[in-house]
Amino acid sequence: MLVLGIETSCDETGIALYDSRDGLVANVLYSQAATHAEYGGVVPEIASRDHIRKTLPLIQQALADAGKQVTDIDGVAYTAGPGLIGALMVGAGIGRALAWSRGIPALGVHHMEAHLLAPLLAAEKPPLPFVALLVSGGHTQLVRVDAIGSYTLLGESLDDAAGEAFDKAAKMMGRGYPGGPVIAALAASGRAGRFRFPRPMTDRPGLEFSFSGLKTFTANTVRDLEPLSEQDAADVALAFQDAVVDTLVIKCRRALKATAIDALVVAGGVAANTSLRERMAKSVPAVYYAPPELCTDNGAMIAFAGHERLATGSTEPLAIAPRPRWPIHELEPARP
Ligand code: KG4
Ligand code: ZN
Repeated sequence: MLVLGIETSCDETGIALYDSRDGLVANVLYSQAATHAEYGGVVPEIASRDHIRKTLPLIQQALADAGKQVTDIDGVAYTAGPGLIGALMVGAGIGRALAWSRGIPALGVHHMEAHLLAPLLAAEKPPLPFVALLVSGGHTQLVRVDAIGSYTLLGESLDDAAGEAFDKAAKMMGRGYPGGPVIAALAASGRAGRFRFPRPMTDRPGLEFSFSGLKTFTANTVRDLEPLSEQDAADVALAFQDAVVDTLVIKCRRALKATAIDALVVAGGVAANTSLRERMAKSVPAVYYAPPELCTDNGAMIAFAGHERLATGSTEPLAIAPRPRWPIHELEPARP
């Protein structure tokens, strides 16, 4: 079965083709990051307009890359949520209409489930059950995964997401969007030990996160240093990144202990962070990731997650119903 995946939940148009036998046969991406950079964050209306401009040409490109025709597609998976409503409607509208015109099934995919399953596209696949740390621009969650679609929320952020904290920290220092890669690059020339930032909510039990206090601490530190030298920015970036990474590692270890599960999956944009990967490797014996380019938003994870359900006969009515908010534990298990 050849599944077309369409991702348009935020600022990346991602298109991919996943085949039951041959795996991922095409994966193309257009990032709007440069367009949004001058605003310091994603502007929803601009995102929707860019998706509608890019989606069909990218589908054409993915088909050409794979040497396939539109008539070879057996099913369509599009991101149905969570995400920006206008942006979601673009992928949902195009995906649903394409499937209907061809008489093939279409399915709305949960964006965070797709992130969580993306490590199954890597050479080294996690065994079930596993604990997943989902760290993206909108979510910071610990989820127990017993099967595809069987998710139990163990803990989540009470305020900002980890990726959002990276984005805001970069913005405070007058740097570009998205902030994660910017902070990571700055931190590489930071000097350890100059600052120590708080590790929020690690001194009491529980699997909840909170990054707003760390954000305020960072803002105050930056204000006291102003005007910031390049070295100041690097030192702050390193202290900030260390604090986020430590906090995530501590909570993951706690979640593995509480569930008596050995395998940890780290997924979502922040999973691309090298420092996080290095520290996890030292602290958690069995940790799995998607390949770095499939950690941030992409069509491959949507094609794959959709394939896992479409291949066992899941389908949906014609009415298109994107969900800007969609708790992951509301998902139904995939049919065996
Ligand atoms: O999963 P994703 O691409 O989109 C959402 O679903 O939100 O995650 C984007 C987030 C952004 O906040 C970005 O700053 C962060 O992931 N990010 C990183 C890195 N690359 C992306 N954070 C830390 N280090 C990175 N290398
Ligand atoms: Zn995402």
